[in-house]
Amino acid sequence: MATLPPESVVPVAVLKAFPVPDAVHATSTPGLGLPWMSRRVAVSVVVSSVVSPSGSASRVTCAGAPGTAVRSSCREKPAASAVRVLVSATVVVKSPKEAQVSSIQIEIRWHRDIAPPFPEGSMGSRSADEPSEGPTSRIPGFYLMPPEERLDTLERARVLDEEDRAAYGAGGLTVAAADLMIENVISTFALPNAVAVNLRVNGEDRVVPMVVEEPSVVAAVSNMARLARPAGGFAADSDPSVMIGQVQVMEVTDPEACVARLREALPRLKAIAATVHPRLPTYGGGLRGMEVRHVVYDEPGYPREDMVVLHFHLDCADAMGANMVNTVAEHLTPHVEAITGETVGLRILSNLADRRLSRGSVRLRPEHLSTEDMPGDEVAARIVGAWRFAWADPWRAATNNKGVMNGIDAVALATGNDWRAIEAGVHAHAARNGQYRPVTVWRLEPDGLLVGSIEVPLQMGTVGGPSRVHPTVQSNLRMLGARGARDLANVTAAVGLAQNLGALRALATEGIQAGHMRMHARCVAAAAGAERDEVEAVTAVLCEQGNYSVEHARQVLGALRGG
Ligand code: MEV
Repeated sequence: MATLPPESVVPVAVLKAFPVPDAVHATSTPGLGLPWMSRRVAVSVVVSSVVSPSGSASRVTCAGAPGTAVRSSCREKPAASAVRVLVSATVVVKSPKEAQVSSIQIEIRWHRDIAPPFPEGSMGSRSADEPSEGPTSRIPGFYLMPPEERLDTLERARVLDEEDRAAYGAGGLTVAAADLMIENVISTFALPNAVAVNLRVNGEDRVVPMVVEEPSVVAAVSNMARLARPAGGFAADSDPSVMIGQVQVMEVTDPEACVARLREALPRLKAIAATVHPRLPTYGGGLRGMEVRHVVYDEPGYPREDMVVLHFHLDCADAMGANMVNTVAEHLTPHVEAITGETVGLRILSNLADRRLSRGSVRLRPEHLSTEDMPGDEVAARIVGAWRFAWADPWRAATNNKGVMNGIDAVALATGNDWRAIEAGVHAHAARNGQYRPVTVWRLEPDGLLVGSIEVPLQMGTVGGPSRVHPTVQSNLRMLGARGARDLANVTAAVGLAQNLGALRALATEGIQAGHMRMHARCVAAAAGAERDEVEAVTAVLCEQGNYSVEHARQVLGALRGG
C-alpha cells in the first residue's frame, strides 16, 4: 500500500511473456519474396482501475496520449507462440487530496503495428526519386537485427557475396597471419566491425564498414546519412593520391648555395626518382614534382641551424604510399649528398599530406533536423552556433575534430589504413593557419538550408598494407565496393562530416549523454546475462528508471524471465 500525494506520477513496468495474438502475422518482403524474419509489435496500455481502499483516487490518467502510454518493442521469430515485451507506463494518479493506493491495474492491448521489413525506398523496393543502379544502403531497422540477420540482409541485397558472407563468420585474422605483420605477436585483438547504412555519396549508395569501440558512432553516421538523403546525400571529391617525401640536408653552412645546387639538379633528381617505381605510371601514379626549401631552426635560446629540404611529390595511385615514398627518399639520398657536398639527415614521407585533400559537403532541409523537443530551424541555427564556437576556440575545435575522426578512423581501421598517419595529417592541416580550427564548416544559407562541408587530407589506400593479408579488411573493402584510394577517401570524408553533424545535432539539443546512456544500458543488460531478444526490454527499463547497475539489470532480467 502506498500513500500518494495529489497528481502522483507512478512508473509502472510490466515484464511479461504474452501470447502472440492471431492478428500478428508474418508478412513477406516486398521485392524479395522472403519471409519477414523480425518485426516490431506495439502495445498500448490502458489503466483500467486503481485499487484504493479509501476510494480517494478519483481519476486516473496516463501520461502521453490520453488513456494510453506505450513504450514497448519486441522482436520475435514468426513461428514463436509468445513474445516477451516490456510495457512501461507512467500513470498519473489524480486525486484532490492524498490517496491510499494498493495497486494499479493496467490492461494491455495489442496493436497490429508491424513495420514492413523493407518499406519504400529500401532494399528491393525503391521510391521513384532514387536511381536504381547498384544496391541501396537504405536499410530501415538494420540496427534492430541480430548480426547474422544483418549479414543475411546484406547478402540478399547483393552488398556482400557468399564468399565474403562466409569470411565474416570465419574469425578474421589468424595468429599465423598476424605474426607475419608485426613483431612479437602473441594473439590477435578483436574490435567491433559494424556497417553504417543509409549513406549516399555523389549519388551512389554506400554501405560503409566501420571498426570502432565507442558506442553511438556508427548510429550517428547512419542516422545523419538518413537525414541527408532527401536533399541528395553527400558530395565528395578527392585530389590525386600525391604524397610528399622529404630529404633533409642538415647543418648547412651556406644554405643559399645548397638550395641553388639542388635546384639546378632538379631535372636529374626527378629522372632518378622516376626510376624507383617504374610500373607506378601504369597504375595512374608517378612522380609529380620536386621542390627545394630552406628551413630554419631558430628556437629562442638555442643555436640556429639552417637546413635545406628536398620535397618530392609522388602520386601513389591506389596505395597509401608510405613505403613507396620512403623508398624514393632513400634512393635519392646519395645523389643529394653528392650534389650538395653536405650530409643528409632524415629521408621520410610527410604525413601532412596536403596535396591529397578530400572535400565533402552536405545540404539539409531544417525540417529534417527537428527533434522531439525542438523545431528543425532552431536545431540548424544551434548547429551553426556550435560550429562557430569551434572556429573561435581551439579547445572546442579539438573536440569537434575528435568527433570527425571518430568516423574517419573507424573507416580507416576497417579498411586496413594507417589511422595514425591520417590523424597526424588532419590535425596538422587543422592548424595550418596558426590557430587550430575545425576541419568542418556549418553555415545557414539564405533559403534556410543547413550546409556543411569538410576538408581533410586523407592518406588512404585500397592496395598494399593489411589489405594483402587481413581477410576482414579484404571483405570490408569489397563490401564498400571501394574503386580505389580516391573513392575510399570520398566516402571517408562524407562519414567524417556525417559524424560531426550527428555530434553537433546531439550537443545542440538533448546532449550526447542520453544516447550514450542508452548504449551503456545495452552493455549493462548484456553484462547481466540478457540474451539478444531480452536486451532491448531490459535496456528500456534501466533507462526508464535511471538505474544502470548490473545488479539492477539482473533483477529486471529475473522479472522478465519469471514473467
Ligand atoms: C565523442 O567521442 C565526440 C564528441 O565529443 C564530438 C563533439 O563534441 O563534437 C561528441
